Amino acid sequence: MAKILVIYHSQQFGNTRILAEALAEGAREDGAEVVLINTNEHRVTLQEFIDADAVALGTPDYFSYVAGTIKTFFDDIYQWDQAGEPVKGKPAALFYSHGTGGKVREVLEQFANRFFEQVGEMVGSGRPIGDDARKRCTALGRELARKIK
Ligand SMILES: Cc1cc2nc3c(=O)[nH]c(=O)nc-3n(C[C@H](O)[C@H](O)[C@H](O)COP(=O)(O)O)c2cc1C
Repeated sequence: MAKILVIYHSQQFGNTRILAEALAEGAREDGAEVVLINTNEHRVTLQEFIDADAVALGTPDYFSYVAGTIKTFFDDIYQWDQAGEPVKGKPAALFYSHGTGGKVREVLEQFANRFFEQVGEMVGSGRPIGDDARKRCTALGRELARKIK
């Protein structure tokens, strides 16, 4: 069964977690096995990353940037790649939550473009997370799962 790793940071209100769970629901509906990792609780290991056929990556906007643990994730991937590990080119879906800003969108896209093949449209949502953003995440999860079938 195709495996998707949903990697996200969520801490302040659980907003990014809501989006991550909606995306996971869509991916499962389309037959993928899904593992969720909140990088605020667990640092993604090389083996966990390599085992995934695709990833979904989500962050809150923290100071117009990705959350620190998501930056650490990109730092890790860069070094795994430098060490010759097969970490580049996975299909990836992107999502973020924000307050009154939302500039993280460009930052996340720039990092992701270095390592992944983006699937679908990135989903962003302000507070509170509404039904529309949830539905767009679920649809994005389905699209990601279909991509690796
Ligand atoms: C340290 C910190 C910095 C933040 N900086 C921004 C910001 O620059 N722009 C913005 O739109 N929201 C900012 N926010 C608001 C969060 O992006 C928003 O509340 C988000 O939904 C929190 O996600 P979470 O509940 O999953 O942690 C910040 C929140 C925190 C805790």
